[in-house]
Amino acid sequence: MKGVTVIDHPLAQARLLELRDAGTNTDSFRRALGKLGLLLLQEATRHLKVKTRRVRTPLAVTSMNTPARPVLLVPILRAGQGLVALADHVVPGATHGYLGMARDEDSLKPEVYLEKLPPRLGRYDIIVCDPMLATGGSAVAAGRLLRQKGGKYLRFVHALAAPEGVRALRKAVPEAAIFTASLDQGLNENGFIVPGLGDAGDRCFGC
Ligand code: PRP
Repeated sequence: MKGVTVIDHPLAQARLLELRDAGTNTDSFRRALGKLGLLLLQEATRHLKVKTRRVRTPLAVTSMNTPARPVLLVPILRAGQGLVALADHVVPGATHGYLGMARDEDSLKPEVYLEKLPPRLGRYDIIVCDPMLATGGSAVAAGRLLRQKGGKYLRFVHALAAPEGVRALRKAVPEAAIFTASLDQGLNENGFIVPGLGDAGDRCFGC
C-alpha cells in the first residue's frame, strides 16, 4: 500500500512471531515488543534529514552525516510504551512525549486522557509509536493533535497494521510515512486486527 513500508527483516519477523504466539507470556511479550520497536525505529529513521559534521579520528579529519533535527518519540499509551522501551539504543538523546489514549470498546473511538508534549513541535522529527494500527482512530487523533500543535515532520511506527487503519491514517495525515512489521488481513467485528496478536496493552502489561 502507498505510504507504508513493511519491514520484512527476518529478525523483526521473528520478534513478531513471538508477539503473535498466544503462548508467549507477559515478560517475553514485553521483551519481544521492545526489541521489535528497536528494529522498526532503525528503519523508520533511515531517511531522516541529515546534516554534515566534521570529526577528528586518531588519523585524520573526515565528514559524517548525523540527524539534522532532534527526534521526538511519542508513544501512545499504554502499549506504545512497550514499543519504545529500548529506543535509546537506536535513537539516543530522543525526547519522549506522551499521548494517553484509550479506545472505547463499543464505539472504537479513542479518548485522550493524557497529553504531555514539549513546546515548539515543529523543530522535531516526530515518530508516533503504537503497536497496533487497527481502525486508525488513535493514530489519526494523534496525528491531528500533533499537527494542530505545530508538528510538521511526522512518522508512524506500528508492529501491526490493518488496511482499514492505513487507509484512514493516509487520508487524515497523507504526508506521514507509516512503518510496520506486517500489513495484516483486516479487522474483525470487534475491531481487532486479524490474525493480529490480541490486545497489545493487556499482553504487554498483564491486565
Ligand atoms: C489499542 C492499541 C492502539 C489502539 C488501536 O489501545 O494499542 O492504541 O487500540 O486501535 P485503533 O487503531 O482502532 O484506534 P487500547 O485502547 O486498547 O489501549 P491500551 O494500549 O491502553 O491497551
